Amino acid sequence: MTSAASPQLLIGSSVKMHLTAGEVRAWLEGCRAAFAGAAGADVFLLPPFVCLPMAAELLRDTGIAYGTQNMHWEDRGAYTGEVSPVMLVEFGATFVEIGHAERRRHFGETDATVNLKVRAALRHGLRPILCIGEGERDVAAADAVLREQLLRALDAVAEAELEGVVVAYEPVWAIGQAAAAEPAYVHDRHLAIRDELRRTYGEVGGLPRLIYGGSVSPANARQLVTHPEVQGLFVGRAALQPASFLRIVEEAVAAR
Ligand code: PGA
Repeated sequence: MTSAASPQLLIGSSVKMHLTAGEVRAWLEGCRAAFAGAAGADVFLLPPFVCLPMAAELLRDTGIAYGTQNMHWEDRGAYTGEVSPVMLVEFGATFVEIGHAERRRHFGETDATVNLKVRAALRHGLRPILCIGEGERDVAAADAVLREQLLRALDAVAEAELEGVVVAYEPVWAIGQAAAAEPAYVHDRHLAIRDELRRTYGEVGGLPRLIYGGSVSPANARQLVTHPEVQGLFVGRAALQPASFLRIVEEAVAAR
């Protein structure tokens, strides 16, 4: 499992629903080969639920962490179509993405359900990748939106659990675009998120890892991580080719 205290960059990818199961297998194998050497970063991969057994088979003991793109907050029960944190743990998952903008937009995810899921993940020893992001590029309003999402998502999370939390800052307007948010804008938002965490939790507010997502590519990875509070990257389309994903990691690691 990735150490929260690791000074290495944390760089991961969700394949969303971009690939078929067969293509996910090839992707996992490609990533396994690409990151076989010392990558210099902590890498995690998030396939769809049905490919979790595949990830367990292909990634166990490789040093590449894996998890899923969502989960339910209850351990078991009459929740047709849902997947519980217990199952994720059974398959060796260590990360779970929670509250991605697409889940909020298309599937009714709210700050309240995000909070239930974050707490359930931590209860099961999973590291939640809590996604927050403002809808529009609005410097004046962005930090207030982020603050609200952050504090609601972390409501009732114990200080001792903060170390396991990953906050993915993903401006909604920069997801799935031709370009990422500008590095200076990203750096300012990460600083504001960190300030908010410290204001709320004191010193332990320094523990959650902050990573950036939204149109990350080999061309912008280096610039994005030049600020110390950008502690990793969360990649979508540009990680679908393992070679491109590896370049992103190499670029980011070179910047540190
Ligand atoms: P993208 O997706 O890299 O394809 O923009 C990023 C994300 O949604 O996390």
